[in-house]
Amino acid sequence: MELETGIKFYPNFKRAFDYIRGIDTYSATPLETLDSGLGFPVRIKNESGRMGLGSFKALGGPYAAAQLILQKWQMEKGEELPSHRLHDPDVRAFSAEQTFMTASAGNHGIGVAAGAKALGAKAVIILSETVPTDFEARLAAFDAKVIRAGHNYEASVAAARNEAKYWNAILLSDGSWPGYTHIPKLVMEGYTVMAEELRQSFETSNQWPTHVFLQAGVGGLAAAITWMIRHNWRKQPEIIIVEPASAACLKESHRAGEMVTVTGPISDMGRLDCKAPSLVAWHVLEASDVKYLTITDKECIDAASVLSNFGFPTTSSGAASYAGVLKQIDNTSLDETSRPLVFVTERR
Ligand SMILES: Cc1ncc(COP(=O)(O)O)c(C=O)c1O
Repeated sequence: MELETGIKFYPNFKRAFDYIRGIDTYSATPLETLDSGLGFPVRIKNESGRMGLGSFKALGGPYAAAQLILQKWQMEKGEELPSHRLHDPDVRAFSAEQTFMTASAGNHGIGVAAGAKALGAKAVIILSETVPTDFEARLAAFDAKVIRAGHNYEASVAAARNEAKYWNAILLSDGSWPGYTHIPKLVMEGYTVMAEELRQSFETSNQWPTHVFLQAGVGGLAAAITWMIRHNWRKQPEIIIVEPASAACLKESHRAGEMVTVTGPISDMGRLDCKAPSLVAWHVLEASDVKYLTITDKECIDAASVLSNFGFPTTSSGAASYAGVLKQIDNTSLDETSRPLVFVTERR
């Protein structure tokens, strides 16, 4: 099911906020202040507890799955379905016929599996060999079928594209490519909720960040937040996209002026270890004023350990934007007047 809508990203963030706020596990994630000892406080948007799913990916997959059921119903039955009807027996019976499939580095799969289960639909998640086994157990808890395929993330994406046809499943990917943009844009639309929660908080406190550091895998998170900041925030920060040195696909695509696939060793930042960018995300970032920064595994492992000592237990992927702050201090582009914002994107 693909409604090709081109590469332009114009998220309906009000629709996303309205829908997601109505989910019973929803509450805004905390915006905390870390007395970092760096000479300035660091604000942390802590996504570890997002809707009980352990990462911000809880906003994308479940929202996209729900929108896709609404859109498929309308296409097949010729009538608009309001979202409050999603749990009515006739709609759940319709959803039970649908299978959502995706490749995942872990968290997106959890979001899709949880979203499918909530709607009464089925989920099949493809994991490459590099994804830790504990994700399998977490996926099983949502009744998802797990298939192992591919030696890295890109190979698992290729497998999912093939398998989706075989299973007659709806491919619900967080990455996008030519001819496949509608669904990943819905995933990114779900992520916009974080930026809106932040905007509301900064409007109240009037303590806007001077810098926003965003870790990137395929770039969906970074692009969704960047779009929201540049279109909706009253005070504009510098935006820095942080990638693993071994998977800097957005930075290298920016440098090349076209989308490129990079090569490199497997990164400890497993959820950021994407060698090819999302088409939609790359276009958003190219149209926005952002800077790029790469970090090594060691820098990220150190940053995760610092954050854990401060009471934010997270992984290298979750700590990558904080590692970006630590690296920028070395490059002296942050000083005592800076008020950087980072995202802890997953729990450890
Ligand atoms: C914990 C965590 N942080 C960051 C990212 C990067 O998100 P994106 O792939 O949208 O760039 C992911 C993606 O899976 C993730 O799971």
